[in-house]
Amino acid sequence: MENWNQTTINAFRKDLLAWYDQEGRAALPWRQNTDPYRILVSELMLQQTRVDTVITYFNRFMEALPTVADLAAADEDLVLKLWEGLGYYSRARNLHKAAKYVVNDLQGQWPESSDDLQNLPGVGPYTAAAIASIAFDQVVPAIDGNFFRVFSRLLKIDDDIAQPKTRKVFYQAIEPIVDPERPGDFNQAIMDLGTTYMKTDNPDTLHSPVKKYNAAFRDGVEDQYPVKTKKKKPLRQIYQAQVAYDAQGRLLYEHRPKTGLLANFWTLPLKQVESIEELAGKQLTLKPVVHVFSHRRWEIWLVDLPVKKQQNLPINMAFLSPVEQEALALPKVQYKLLDQLREIDDVSK
Ligand code: ADE
Repeated sequence: MENWNQTTINAFRKDLLAWYDQEGRAALPWRQNTDPYRILVSELMLQQTRVDTVITYFNRFMEALPTVADLAAADEDLVLKLWEGLGYYSRARNLHKAAKYVVNDLQGQWPESSDDLQNLPGVGPYTAAAIASIAFDQVVPAIDGNFFRVFSRLLKIDDDIAQPKTRKVFYQAIEPIVDPERPGDFNQAIMDLGTTYMKTDNPDTLHSPVKKYNAAFRDGVEDQYPVKTKKKKPLRQIYQAQVAYDAQGRLLYEHRPKTGLLANFWTLPLKQVESIEELAGKQLTLKPVVHVFSHRRWEIWLVDLPVKKQQNLPINMAFLSPVEQEALALPKVQYKLLDQLREIDDVSK
């Protein structure tokens, strides 16, 4: 690993921030001020998807819920609706809880240090450091994938970034480099660098504003960084999704348990099966709906399984009209199931 002296560190900060001031994405909506609420919302959204997509979601969210007090007082349904499409709804639920915590338990007084910010539900070391540095000028690196990529190359850090303990190695290497005058800008400059000149594939190091600090590039081994072992493939699981209508043509839904994947959401009744043979040829399609969670790959088969007239529905199931379905925040996987159902209907007409 390279070890920079103070002269190099000073020069690096200067070159990085000069570039950021010239070419950084200052127009991003969450960079318009340093309101910790806006930073929190944007950071959680940015962990879900690309900057381009987040801009729309972020503006819509801020229009509906402009302050942390508005979010704390909002209905969960509205919050989920505003999050719909970003995926991983536990983030949205935690965001809602975090707002309530700040408003109700802390009387609207935000924690300002990275350590204290981690008491907010759903806020881990990265998000806490991003808020602490951007909103409160705390001198801490906000270590996300961009930081691993950028600094593993600049400093030739050989530790495996798939290992949790590696975060500490990066933290110790980067903390002395963060600009004490402008920690938030420093962090956001690294993020910008990590998505432009120093992105994962085809980095453009030749034109990078910090090319001369890049040890991996200097040694012709940039493609070997960051060092990362392959993670396990998600576990394949087969599900059936029950398709049943009542006499009014309403579709059967189930309200999922309050823990586990898709907690609290309404979906078609889903049941895991050992193998496709168990479905006994009742599948409505030739291919399943595939949905990948971080550790699970669900292959879901739509299965024709009418409810018998005399049969009582379990308490967590209900027939829902299209209007009732539309009023709910449905998870992405349910939309995929509905899309496939629509295709079958089109074919059978
Ligand atoms: N990715 C994560 N946080 C970001 C930020 N504040 N600006 C741009 N991209 C980001």
